Amino acid sequence: MAGKVYLIGAGPGDPDLLTLKALRLLQSAEVVVHDRLVSPEIMALTPAGALCVPVGKAAGFHSVPQDRINELLVEMARDGHRVVRLKGGDPLIFGRGSEEAEALAAAGIPYAYVPGITAAQGAACSTGVPLTHRGLATGVRYVTGHRAQDAALELDWQSLADPDTTLVVYMGAANMVEIAARLIAAGMPLDLPVLAVAHATTPRERRMLSDLARIGADLARQPMEAPVLFVIGRVAGLYETAALPLPQRQRGAHLRVVGHG
Ligand SMILES: C[S@@+](CC[C@H](N)C(=O)[O-])C[C@H]1O[C@@H](n2cnc3c(N)ncnc32)[C@H](O)[C@@H]1O
Repeated sequence: MAGKVYLIGAGPGDPDLLTLKALRLLQSAEVVVHDRLVSPEIMALTPAGALCVPVGKAAGFHSVPQDRINELLVEMARDGHRVVRLKGGDPLIFGRGSEEAEALAAAGIPYAYVPGITAAQGAACSTGVPLTHRGLATGVRYVTGHRAQDAALELDWQSLADPDTTLVVYMGAANMVEIAARLIAAGMPLDLPVLAVAHATTPRERRMLSDLARIGADLARQPMEAPVLFVIGRVAGLYETAALPLPQRQRGAHLRVVGHG
């Protein structure tokens, strides 16, 4: 009998931010197919006997093509395994979870999704910078910066340049100079705050507060290690007054959760 594939969001990195469902399924997995974005602290929670298969998906890595990942999930499930497909953040936000689900459905393999905390929400709660705030932002948009220099996949900069809406840019580090220039050209102020957050919610978290005019130079002077996301908008200015301290290494903190699992 075919096994089942669970497309699970691992959240932004802190193991304490896994859902109970994600933790329970992870701890009973026979096979774990995981992105590099999944933090080492979370990978440490996989059961000792599980087969762990890294499939890339971090900046600079695409070690396994998406078609091959789809095939792998189908093969593992056809062999009768209980498969966890573990993704950073949420599987349905820039996660290609739905593409994998399509491949599983086409092959007649049962699957289920488990949501995760997406990086934007993790970064907001970790830094203390809200994504919406009365009087500063009435909404938020998540966009990928990956395509900023691809004319065929051009973003609608005019619609993105809305001072009342916070823009969270995923996968934008390589194109941030271009992104900032496009937003300025579309009418956003030069001094619009930009908060860059790397490795949000983990002991490796780093932040940089800048603005649209300076973000390119600031990143060139002080490169940030991937994964990085950018919170662009008036809310980012709250970092000056509302910033929370960086996450501390909490040795064994997740072990308490495991004990109750
Ligand atoms: C392929 S997308 C995956 C997004 C993921 N599915 C989510 O919901 O967060 C990868 C991008 O997410 C962002 N990202 C993921 N985890 C992050 C973290 N802990 N801190 C900062 N950015 C992160 C970065 O912009 C990175 O380039």
